[in-house]
Amino acid sequence: MDTSTIVILDFGSQYTQLIARRIREFNVFSVVLPCTVSLDKVKALNPKGVILSGGPSSVYDVDAPKADPAVLAMGVPVLGICYGLQFIVHHLGGKVEPAPAREYGHAQVSVIADTQLFRGLPTTMDVWMSHGDEAKTLPEGFSLTAQTSNAVAGIADEARRMWAVQFHPEVAHTKQGMELLKNFVMGICGAQADWTPEHFIQTTVERVKAQVGSGHAICGLSGGVDSSVAAVLVAKAIGDRLTCIFVNNGVLRKDEFEKVQKTMREQLGLNVVAVDAAERFLTKLAGVTDPETKRKVIGNEFIAVFDDEAKKIFENEKSAGEEVAWLVQGTLYPDVIESSSVHGPSHTIKSHHNVGGLPENMKLKLIEPLRDLFKDEVRRIGRDLGMPDDIIERQPFPGPGLAVRILGEVTAERVAILQEADQIVVDEIKKAGLYRKVWQSFAVLLPVKSVGVMGDQRTYANTCAIRAVESEDGMTADWAPLPYEVLRTISSRIVSEVRGINRVVYDITSKPPGTIEWE
Ligand code: XMP
Repeated sequence: MDTSTIVILDFGSQYTQLIARRIREFNVFSVVLPCTVSLDKVKALNPKGVILSGGPSSVYDVDAPKADPAVLAMGVPVLGICYGLQFIVHHLGGKVEPAPAREYGHAQVSVIADTQLFRGLPTTMDVWMSHGDEAKTLPEGFSLTAQTSNAVAGIADEARRMWAVQFHPEVAHTKQGMELLKNFVMGICGAQADWTPEHFIQTTVERVKAQVGSGHAICGLSGGVDSSVAAVLVAKAIGDRLTCIFVNNGVLRKDEFEKVQKTMREQLGLNVVAVDAAERFLTKLAGVTDPETKRKVIGNEFIAVFDDEAKKIFENEKSAGEEVAWLVQGTLYPDVIESSSVHGPSHTIKSHHNVGGLPENMKLKLIEPLRDLFKDEVRRIGRDLGMPDDIIERQPFPGPGLAVRILGEVTAERVAILQEADQIVVDEIKKAGLYRKVWQSFAVLLPVKSVGVMGDQRTYANTCAIRAVESEDGMTADWAPLPYEVLRTISSRIVSEVRGINRVVYDITSKPPGTIEWE
C-alpha cells in the first residue's frame, strides 16, 4: 500500500519546512520539492495533494520562481499559501499587483463563503500575514472565500479543486491554522494517517535489508541522537554486520567517552569500536587559536582517525571473506531540502564538521536512514525503538565539541576545567527541569583572567560564560531567560567547585546577530 503523500512546492519561504512539519503532525507524509521540479517527478510520488508555499518574490517579476503550471491541472487538490495564492491567480489569468499597504503580522480575516477548507472554523479568524502584493482580479472560476479589511485573504475554485489563502496557516500565530491544514490534508485530499513511527521503522528496516543484502556497514557515532538512531535502525536490519566507530577527540564532555560506549553496547546492543585518540587531537590543536583553523584541524583529524579504523575493519572483514561496502550517515531532512533548494545550499557561516566524513578513497555507498525525517521525528523514532531518554533528549553538541567553547588555545588542562563547569551547568539545568525546555545550555571558557577573592586569598583565574538559548532548529535563537535562582546556583557551584574559574558571566545575545556557539 502506498503511503499518503502531500507534495509541497517551495517558492523560497522561510516557513516551507514548517508546512511539512505541520502535515507530519497528522501522521501524513509530506515532501518538500523545489518549485522548479519536473511534473513527472511530482506525478511519480502519486501525491494526494499539492501545496504551493509562500515566497519572498513577486509573481509578476521576470525572474520570479515558477512551477510548471501543469501541476494545477493534475487533478489532485491544490492549496496555495501566500505567494502560492498569487502564483495561482497569476498563472490562471487573474491579476496580482503591489498592495497599497503591506500586510505584515497579525490580521483579522472574515470568512465570507462556505468552503471545505474553512469547514468548522469560525467566521472571523486571527491570522499571520506577510505579503506586499495582492490579488486584484481573480481567474475565471474562482470566488472570494475570505477577506481582510484591505485585501483578498482566501479564494477557491472547488470545481477544479483549488483553494488558496493569503495568510500563513502553518505559523502558530494563525490560531486555526492546524485545523485549516487538516481540512485540506485529511478532508479535501483524503490522506490517510499512515506515516507513523512503526510504519517508518518497519519500511526503513526492510529497505536497508534489501539494500545491504549480505554486505557490511560502518557508522560513525557521536553520542548524539541522530547518529545513534541511525545506527540502531541499521543494526535492526543487519545486526552485527554493522560496526560503529566512536572516537574520543579529546574535546568530549566529562566521562562521555566511557558513558556513551557503555550505553551503546549494553543498552542498545551495538557493535562498537571505541578509539581513544584524545592525545592525537590535542597534539594537533596545540598552539591553534583561530576558530576556523580549530574546526579544520578537528575535521581533518577525525577523517584520518575514522579512515584508519575503517581500514582495520575492512582488513578484518576481507580476511573473513567479507566486504564492507556501506557507510551509515545521520543526514536529516532539512539538509536534504537545503541541498536541493531553489536558492541552493545556504551560505555556511561556520564550517560545520559532522561525524561521518566520508573517506573518499574507500568508495563506500551511503545509507541515510533518517533523510526523510525532521529532528523531532528522529526523537519519536528513537523513543519507539526503546532508546534511553538520556540519548533521545540530548541537547545538540557540535562536532568539534568543547574546542569551540574554549576560546584561545585548547589544552588538556583547559578541557578539564571546562568539562567540570559544563557538568555543573548540565546538572543544574536538569535539576531545574529546564534541560528539555531550552535548546542548548552550556559553559564557555574565556581567555580572560580577572581578580577575585576567596576566603582571605586573592585569586587570579579564568572567566566562564554561561550560554542558554531557546530555538526551534538552531537557525535562529533567543537567549533563554533562566531563573536567577538557577543562575545563582550554577555560578556559586562553578566558582567553588571548579579550580581555575573565579568569575561567571551570562551571555544575553540572541542569534542573529550572535551565533549559538562562541566559535
Ligand atoms: P551556531 O554556533 O552556528 O550553531 O549558531 C548552530 C547549531 O549548530 C551546532 N553546531 C555544530 N554542529 N558541527 C555540528 O555538528 C559543528 O561544527 C557545529 N557548529 C555548531 C551548534 O551547537 C548549534 O546547535
